[in-house]
Amino acid sequence: MRYWLVIPAAGSGRRFGTGDLPKQYVRIAGRSMIEWACSAFAGDSRCAGVVFALAAGDAHWPEVRRQLAVAGFGNILEAQGGAERVDSVRNALRLLAAHAAPDDLVLVHDAARPCLERADLDALLAAASDCADGALLAAPLADTLKLAEPDAAPAGLAPVAVAARVSRTVPREQLWRALTPQAARHAALCAALDNAAALGRVPTDEAQALEWMGAKPRLVTGAAANLKVTTADDLRIAKALLEPRAHANLPAGADRAG
Ligand code: CTP
Ligand code: MG
Repeated sequence: MRYWLVIPAAGSGRRFGTGDLPKQYVRIAGRSMIEWACSAFAGDSRCAGVVFALAAGDAHWPEVRRQLAVAGFGNILEAQGGAERVDSVRNALRLLAAHAAPDDLVLVHDAARPCLERADLDALLAAASDCADGALLAAPLADTLKLAEPDAAPAGLAPVAVAARVSRTVPREQLWRALTPQAARHAALCAALDNAAALGRVPTDEAQALEWMGAKPRLVTGAAANLKVTTADDLRIAKALLEPRAHANLPAGADRAG
């Protein structure tokens, strides 16, 4: 079974705050974050090609492209990034239309998720290959969830950062955190993103756009370690996870996948 990979990498990392260096190019354990994000796909003969959605004038990309070629990525395509993540993904899918068959699987994986392991990729592909509605990696919630309500700032005290109180506890049994990669058929995903655009709605992941079409993508349990690096705190966690892999001189995921 073959698949195409889409890597949205056109964000500026506003919440991360590295100034001029977009977070996907921050170095972790000897490589850029985006190279780590791709490492679980390296050498995978099922991967027909990778489309990177890139910001205009991205000066960091050419060197990363060279490194990815060295790592064995043969068919690298470049699409223009858009204003929102979904626009970047949509541009990549449009470019893929000239290469992919309508029923080909497309996997979308954030450049800001450097800790994906090969075992999770394999589980996702197995689940997606026989599900017309697509599939996504996701992690069941482990913490107790509180619904907040606004709290009046206490009189005479310094203003607190977040004035909130518990309204109630939300049952977590059916709640999952959506991760990436997310998988769908090329034509189905294009139709879903076109539909979202026609509705004037901005989905925050591929599954949400498919849901708006009435689809029920399959949830595939993935490692919670497959975190999205959003803040500088997240980077510390990613470093702790990736440094042992770098020292073992293994690609991300190879330590578990054998
Ligand atoms: N992304 C993209 N095009 C955009 C916005 C985001 O391709 N217009 C990509 C990012 O590069 C990242 C992924 O989508 O790989 C997830 O987005 P996010 O974590 O929100 O990254 P940023 O948008 O860069 O960060 P922020 O929202 O803090 O600015
Ligand atoms: Mg963003």
